[in-house]
Amino acid sequence: MLTGRNVVLGVSGGVAAYKAAYLARRLVERGADVRVVMTESAAEFVGPATFAAITGVHPVVDLFDDEDVSPHTTLARWADLIVVAPATASTLSKIAHGDASNALVATVVASTAPVVVAPAMHTEMWEHPATGENIQTLRGFGYTLVEPDAGDLAGGDVGVGRLASPDDIADVVQDALIGGDLTATSVVITAGGTREPIDPVRYIGNRSSGKMGNALAVEAARRGADVTLVTTAPAPNHPGITVVPVETADEMADAVWHIADETQIAIMAAAVADFRPADPETRKLVRSDGPPDLVLEPTPDVLAGFRERAPEATLVGFAAQVGDLSGVEDKAERKRVDLLVANDVSRPGTGFGSDDNEVTLVFHDGVTKALPIMSKRDVAKVVIDTVVELRS
Ligand code: CTP
Repeated sequence: MLTGRNVVLGVSGGVAAYKAAYLARRLVERGADVRVVMTESAAEFVGPATFAAITGVHPVVDLFDDEDVSPHTTLARWADLIVVAPATASTLSKIAHGDASNALVATVVASTAPVVVAPAMHTEMWEHPATGENIQTLRGFGYTLVEPDAGDLAGGDVGVGRLASPDDIADVVQDALIGGDLTATSVVITAGGTREPIDPVRYIGNRSSGKMGNALAVEAARRGADVTLVTTAPAPNHPGITVVPVETADEMADAVWHIADETQIAIMAAAVADFRPADPETRKLVRSDGPPDLVLEPTPDVLAGFRERAPEATLVGFAAQVGDLSGVEDKAERKRVDLLVANDVSRPGTGFGSDDNEVTLVFHDGVTKALPIMSKRDVAKVVIDTVVELRS
């Protein structure tokens, strides 16, 4: 929690300013002392009285109309952390250029505290190269960016640029202030479906999208872990994630086993083919050859090989079942995992390719816990929370 921590919330002028009131509330609920500095345009969207009521202190809006003779330096020194949410394109630009012409930017520029920036704007503004350059500049300052979400924007538009949720921003603030619970922990995560070649252009594959593994990688990295994501799928861009792209079960096994002895947590979310063509063609098969006789052979079991090499690591397996989940307790024991995350991939709206998942946690001793349907991001949070608990 954030008891005794001083957080300055900088609010700039976009419609998402109303969400900053929720963020202030979340931070206060977590025990932080919150003071608000807002731009005059932000005050057009949400009245300073709203923030005064939530935080117990009147926000600073005008540098020259405040009881304090130097409100920006007072706030800058008081802050253990400054979070700017929402950060408009204009505020991003001003901070990137040190243009301290309003109370919010003056406070940021006057402070040596860590800074978290949560942008919100229309998609076109977010994608403009000037905004991209300003974001890079802020990253270069060591500021933490909370990327905007995709969704409904002002004026009926839809796209990337919506302010991240107040809870997610509060999580990032908390991690920045007190460190994540996986700081300096090495985590390997497998993701996606393997592709076992039949010939140079065709493969045996499966419908895994890699979304669950990506969500786990982002969540672990957000909490401070050094994540190696061994994946067949497009991967998220995050400074805490090293991506090792692979195609086949063999390549996945090589990559994972190579770092097994330095890994503390392994989460095997990949859908690994159990069999592969024993003798893939080196030339492309053509129709006139007639249907090929595919002889299959087993692939390496990435998870089992990891367990042999890292008996002490915390190991999480996934079990994509079709139909009921009977027998998953045995699988947790057979696979020597600390936790098995089982789901029925045949259900509509969950499983392969979807953004949601409905899973049952199966512990080594056979105890099970069914979770309701939730986003893969939330499943990732629960899985990582459970791993942290198992290790404590
Ligand atoms: N797994 C693996 N390597 C394989 C096959 C599976 O690492 N060659 C991992 C998966 O990533 C998953 C776990 O093992 O975390 C369970 O996968 P699953 O296919 O359910 O296990 P199997 O032992 O193949 O079970 P089944 O008998 O149901 O096929």
